[in-house]
Amino acid sequence: MARRKYVVGNWKMNGLSDAVAEAGAIFGAAKDYPAVDVALCPPFTLIGALVAAAPGSAVGGQDCHAAPSGAYTGSVSAPMLADAGATLTIVGHSERREGFGESDADVKAKAEAALAAGLSVILCVGEPRAIRESGGAIDHVLVQVRGSLPDAFDPTRLAIAYEPIWAIGTGLIPTVEDVAAMHGSIRAALSERIGAGAQVLRLLYGGSVNGDNAAELLGAGDVDGALVGGASLTAAKFLPIVAAGAGLP
Ligand code: 13P
Repeated sequence: MARRKYVVGNWKMNGLSDAVAEAGAIFGAAKDYPAVDVALCPPFTLIGALVAAAPGSAVGGQDCHAAPSGAYTGSVSAPMLADAGATLTIVGHSERREGFGESDADVKAKAEAALAAGLSVILCVGEPRAIRESGGAIDHVLVQVRGSLPDAFDPTRLAIAYEPIWAIGTGLIPTVEDVAAMHGSIRAALSERIGAGAQVLRLLYGGSVNGDNAAELLGAGDVDGALVGGASLTAAKFLPIVAAGAGLP
């Protein structure tokens, strides 16, 4: 089944109001690649500004709380993201799982909250270096997938991003064979869980994707796009990745 390529920028904790123009440049140029779905996930503080600058473009959060509202100082809920104009959110990024102690159950609750608020979800999984080196990466990631997926969901509204922790921000990337093996294993596990919907759900790769390696990584088996950190901050670095997605079948 043909799945549309999906290239998503995760700005992490980067970007002040002067970055809105960069997002406008990215979304403007992305129109030249209609075969690729492009989204940007800026810090919460910039969501409204990006939506205003590029109406109709896909702007997302980087996390959400599992509750719709309440006494959770510092947190942002999924209905708040939707209210600000976001249409998607990332959940379960390793920088949340590791830095904030989020469990698979926490990530599942956040994904369910996001879907209930009408958002699409990018659910992140990935192994630390020691687990990759011990040969346990696929088992580790499948535990995360099974534990973090909502009980019921529309596979057109949920993507899974495989982001090996040791590849994030390091310039290191797995081999194309390792990426294909991981993505194939995730899709097989999804087939067991949701049947034919597994052929619809998009699997993204993330970790040190740039304009030089994007064609190779996005061309690997069962890779439907990329979740990009550092190289998503400027149009000059991000657009070659979008173009790489457009050049693939
Ligand atoms: P980098 O592209 O900077 O390695 O970050 C990847 C990532 O964590 C995206 O969510």
